[in-house]
Amino acid sequence: MTEAADKIRASAGDAPVRLGLVLGSGLGALASELDRAHAFPFEDLPGFPVSGVSGHAGAVVVGELEGVRVALLSGRAHYYEDGDAGVMRTPLETIRALGAEAVLLTNSAGSLRDEMPPGALMSICDHINWSGLNPLIGEATDDRFVSLVDAYAPHLRARLKAADPELNEGVYAWFSGPSFETPAEIRAARILGADAVGMSTVPETILARFLGLEVAAVSVVTNYAAGMTGQPLSHAETKSEAAKALTRFRALVRAFVRSFA
Ligand code: HPA
Repeated sequence: MTEAADKIRASAGDAPVRLGLVLGSGLGALASELDRAHAFPFEDLPGFPVSGVSGHAGAVVVGELEGVRVALLSGRAHYYEDGDAGVMRTPLETIRALGAEAVLLTNSAGSLRDEMPPGALMSICDHINWSGLNPLIGEATDDRFVSLVDAYAPHLRARLKAADPELNEGVYAWFSGPSFETPAEIRAARILGADAVGMSTVPETILARFLGLEVAAVSVVTNYAAGMTGQPLSHAETKSEAAKALTRFRALVRAFVRSFA
């Protein structure tokens, strides 16, 4: 039980949430679509990070989506903001303490696959973390040895696929950011088996599994990865392409959430 969860319950009510949703860069619009919503800015919640990234509003919203009670994080904090891989620990503990048994993590990502252009959605089936970072470093008990086999729960991936038959599935490689990758890093990541790259989600998946939350994760492709088009990358492009993919993304998230009703 976290202090933040107590504070949320005090005004949003005690009914357990079924699912946590973490919305990535430019994907926060769903936060305004919850029914019977109670919103809590991160800065009002003990232990929550205050994200300074544009495109990340930074609030927990508890309410109903498709008739399912959810706790949604609109905006997240990233490792690259303060150098803390565990920056999302309190938010995820709070989702767990509010009753969620599963979490849907979302992000914007660069695609390494020609046939997965900007606007495509990808369900993450596995990840690569060659950053040398881990949010559980310093954790004292044997619980830190978390298995990441099927970290992205096969039965939740099946629900995502059922929600959008055109959904891609692939491996997400975490780069710390905030600079984008080099073309050489992208070529290396492709050889290693990555289909998409991004600056979030992996530490959240590790924390979520540590906390006993089941994980599903979706990347919204906002660009081809570095070196694939000859064009420079930019955060402005990430935000504008995420906005364009929003209709499809929203439909996927809603259908996935509905499967919990
Ligand atoms: N690299 C890393 N993170 C990203 C990208 C990318 O190409 N696009 C959106 N987030």
